[in-house]
Order: sequence, then C-alpha cells, then structure tokens
Amino acid sequence: MTIKIFDVETGKDINKKIEELKVDFKEEELEKEHYMLKEILEQPETIKKAIEQDEKKLIETVMEVLRAKNVIFTACGTARYAAIVGRYLFSKIAKKFSDVIMAHEFQYFTESVDKDTLVIAISQSGETADVLEGLKKAKERGAKIVAITNSENSSLDRISDKTFFLNCGPEIAVASTKAFTSQLVVLYLLAFAMINKSQEEKIKLKEIGDKVEETISQNNELIKKFAEKLKDKKDFYFIARGIDFAIASEGALKLKELSYAHAEGMPAGELKHGTLSLIEEGTPIVTICPKDYTYEETLNNIQEAKSRGGFIIGVSDEGNEIFDSLLKIPKVEEIFYPLLTVIPLQLFAYHLAVAKGNNPDKPRNLAKSVTVK
Ligand code: AGP
Repeated sequence: MTIKIFDVETGKDINKKIEELKVDFKEEELEKEHYMLKEILEQPETIKKAIEQDEKKLIETVMEVLRAKNVIFTACGTARYAAIVGRYLFSKIAKKFSDVIMAHEFQYFTESVDKDTLVIAISQSGETADVLEGLKKAKERGAKIVAITNSENSSLDRISDKTFFLNCGPEIAVASTKAFTSQLVVLYLLAFAMINKSQEEKIKLKEIGDKVEETISQNNELIKKFAEKLKDKKDFYFIARGIDFAIASEGALKLKELSYAHAEGMPAGELKHGTLSLIEEGTPIVTICPKDYTYEETLNNIQEAKSRGGFIIGVSDEGNEIFDSLLKIPKVEEIFYPLLTVIPLQLFAYHLAVAKGNNPDKPRNLAKSVTVK
C-alpha cells in the first residue's frame, strides 16, 4: 500500500516518515459487548498497568516540577478533569501549587509563559488540536512540556520533552473511562515522587485496582435498575467538595455526552450561588461524598438541595439517612477516593444511555479524537 501525504492548500508533497502504530486488540472479542462497558470493566487491570512507570523518569520529571516557577496543566474534557484531580494531588501531597487551563483558552495566557514554566499536557489521543496549539506557543516561549498520553508517536508525544504513557491499550468508546483512571494513576505517582514516596505508594495503588473491581461488582446491577428508573429525567446535578469536585464534573460530562440529558457538575459550595433555584421536586442530585475531609460540609449542602425536593443519590463509603439512594464504594485511604468514586458514575452514564436506547460507544455529534480547532 502506498501512502502519500500532501498539503491540501498547495497540493505539494510533504515528506513525512510513516510510523506504524502497535495496536493490540482482538476485534472478535470486542464485538461481543459495548466497548465502553468492556473498558469500564478493564480498569482493575489498566490501573495496575499505569503504575508501571519508569522510576528514573518520574524523579527527573518531578525535579523539574519542583524547580518550575509556574506549573500549568492543560487538557480538554475528561482529561481536564484528570488534570484538576492532579492539581489537588500536587497541592495536598507535595504542597506544590499549580493551575489548570482549558487547552482552547491556553493560547490567551501564553504571554505569562516563559522558560521557568512547566506545562503538563494530558490527552488520551495525543492528537487534540486545541492541546497542541497551546503547547506550540508555550514551547516557543521556552516552556518545558511533559505529556501524559495513551498514544506513542502521537503529535503530543513528539512535541513533548518527556512523555508518560497510560499503558491501558486502545480506548475505542468515545467516552473516556479507563484512560481517565490511568491518567489519575500517573498523576498520583508524580505527586508521590515529589515527596520521595512513589515506590511505597505504588503498592497501595495496586490494591486500589482490586477495590475498583469490588466497586464494579457491588454497583453494576443496581445501577442498571436505577438507570431504568431515572431515564426520563431531564436535568441532573453532580456535586462534591475538594478533590472530588473534579469527579462530579466528570460524572456530569459522561452523563450528558451519552444520555443527551442536561447535566452539570459543580463544587457543592457553589449550589447556593445560583443553581439551587433550579432544584424542584424529584430533581436528581448526585453527591460524591466519601467519608473524608469534605464529608460534613458536603452534607450541609445536600441538606439545602434536599429541602427543595432534590432526589439525593449518594456515592460514598458511608450511608446517611439524607441519601434517597446510595451507591456504595469501599473504604480506602482518603487521598485515593477519586479512583473509586468515578466508577459508579461511569456505570451510571453507560446504563442510562442503554436504557434510553442510545449507542454509548458512538454518541451523536461527538468524535473520539478532536483534531480540528
Ligand atoms: C470524554 O468522554 C470525551 N469524549 C472528551 O471530553 C475527551 O476527553 C476530550 O475530547 C479530550 O480528548 P483527549 O484526551 O484525546 O485529548
């Protein structure tokens, strides 16, 4: 087969080296189920694979992170929610401040980027045009680029000074699931490497892989029934505090892209600044509320929604009478909750899409890889 690459505007040939991608999956195996469900169920294993990062590279990278005057995460969609978890982890674990800028807005901040800036770009595909565009500008201004991606030889891999691969295998469903949890694992490793603890925390992360398995088996059937009950609801709100605010936002994104219902994720403290006016009798409020440093305050916010008639779905390791329904997760060390709380939300979005007769693998109007600006 001959492949010719040319400039569409001038018609002139472009000389490019053709790289063959190593894609390892069995087509017949994947055809049995939806790719999305298969990818959700793979996470106990893919989390373990993401842990297999080179220790030397981790240390070299975090030296740069600690040296940098500004650390900026840039990404879109689900990858951006992983970045927000990363921001909390960097602060909580390593006391390192960072910021997250949506990739398509990053170009408007590049004036303040210089050689003392480290940019961490997260992208499953490594081909998201908005991510690449901002990075080119940042690179021109001398910034160092670290990539977290699933795609070897992708444009992101090639533009970056260092790349961490997710090792989770191809993600086929448009909705990102296993890539998200693998991105989180890499971010945990970077944060722990900053305080010299990546080796010992790798063991704990492996155990979290097993807890993900437990979370899936405890919730899958329950959520399937639940989705049937809620499939006609038009609006969903997802709330949480602290690190789990990113998970609330991810849950809302997953739900809206697959079920075509309106869903918003927000910090629970923000409810009373506007959204509370939208809560009516029976409005579903999904609260990510593990028994951690946010628990008590989140309960206060839930009360505000409940007293307006909200139907409260709790995602927690601790039951509470305020929840109308509970999606239970196992108890773990509090820093690791995001790896578990996201699982019921992925299953919820999947089952709701199926209950509504939508194809969860190919939601309307969306592409797996957004290569145009
Ligand atoms: C995720 O479910 C979405 N399909 C979408 O938000 C995606 O995460 C975003 O387009 C970024 O893609 P990337 O990770 O390949 O850059």
